[in-house]
Amino acid sequence: MNKRAEISTDLERSAFWMPFTANRQFKKAPRLLARAEGMHYWTPEGRQILDGTAGLWCVNAGHCRPRIVEAVKRQVAEMDFAPTFQMGHPIAFEFADRLAAIAPPGFSRVFFTNSGSESVDTALKIALAYQRARGEGQRFKLIGRERGYHGVNFGGMAVGGLQANKRMFGPGLAGVDHIRHTHDLARNAFSRGQPAHGAEFAEELERLCALHDPSTIAALIVEPVAGSAGVLVPPKGYLERLREICTRHGILLIFDEVITGFGRLGQPFASQRFGVMPDLFTTAKGLTNGTVPMGAVFTKDAIFDAFMQGPEGIELFHGYTYSGHPLACAAGIATLDTYADEDLLTRALQLEKHWEEAAHALKGARHVIDIRSCGLIAAVELEPRAGAPGKRAYEAFVKAFEAGVLIRVTGDIIALSPPLIVEQPQIDRMFECVRQVLQEVA
Ligand SMILES: Cc1ncc(COP(=O)(O)O)c(C=O)c1O
Repeated sequence: MNKRAEISTDLERSAFWMPFTANRQFKKAPRLLARAEGMHYWTPEGRQILDGTAGLWCVNAGHCRPRIVEAVKRQVAEMDFAPTFQMGHPIAFEFADRLAAIAPPGFSRVFFTNSGSESVDTALKIALAYQRARGEGQRFKLIGRERGYHGVNFGGMAVGGLQANKRMFGPGLAGVDHIRHTHDLARNAFSRGQPAHGAEFAEELERLCALHDPSTIAALIVEPVAGSAGVLVPPKGYLERLREICTRHGILLIFDEVITGFGRLGQPFASQRFGVMPDLFTTAKGLTNGTVPMGAVFTKDAIFDAFMQGPEGIELFHGYTYSGHPLACAAGIATLDTYADEDLLTRALQLEKHWEEAAHALKGARHVIDIRSCGLIAAVELEPRAGAPGKRAYEAFVKAFEAGVLIRVTGDIIALSPPLIVEQPQIDRMFECVRQVLQEVA
């Protein structure tokens, strides 16, 4: 056994404080992944695991794609790091331009970050600074949505709507409020694609405008499809109504596309899928196929232009040491090439019917109270076990891993979001596995 393997066998005493993990429980019964390729992971013992979650919604082109691996290797040997503060390197400009070329028209400016959380905080800061730049500095309030997930930094945590992610961390930002979520099991259970009911939930924004005075509100941020809170697909007409209300009141609309970006819904971005354009949108994850951490905020031209009006000098006092990191840019360019060569940004559309059928075939399966699907995302919501919310889904997740399929659970919701290279028999295997494990869990 080599040194690395020896160290990792004593996990119970390991120094690694694991994120979003029940550390003590995990370290007693770990689930380790040691290698990956295409649609699969392998455990250290060599067991093959079918990846039903694209890692964490990020490996959209599948694992260890040779072109991306080569590009990163080449770049690290050529130039490992270079600053982007008052300096530049060609690959960062090239990647930004390539991204602008696949963005919806009018989004030709890209600000690089290192994660989804940083993209969200960056977008919120750009929104505030933009309002000030256009003479509307009294707009300092930010609106999010219940059950929204916008990462874990202070801005994203504040506009996020998941109680568990907030309760330990004090009062957070001032001037933040939330509209209600769109989950409506009573009317929309087992919807395929966008649910029929709930456009009127957008009117909640009007209620907050009346409460706060709309001229104090800088921006509204929502995920086009809420992912981490359990795959909530926007009701028909809902995003359109949000857009109208924002426009009417001069409020910027930010879409958090950290999971919906880069082909998850059959178009490069969710705004294209739903035909509703935000003013800014955040990305990360699929941006580099998960290979090197990176995020990017796309802004409408008018927003960028507003910053370029005053006297020359640093226009936005914001940025990260690693904004536009050369390795991330190399990975990102090779990722875009891979997406383009294999038509991956629209492949979800071709697979969507099969995906939907396979997901909804679980209707009537043990414990299932709802199934939702859109693009290559699906959620299977379970009846919570009495007195033990989340336990049933967690046990299903462990059993699925033992059976060789990686699924993801949030509360009592199983979420599936495979790499976009998935084949139909693999889709069938994922849902069959879910059916089986639901038979096994109490
Ligand atoms: C919609 C959304 N925003 C932001 C984030 C945070 O991204 P990161 O974990 O890269 O900071 C996530 C992560 O899942 C997400 O789903």
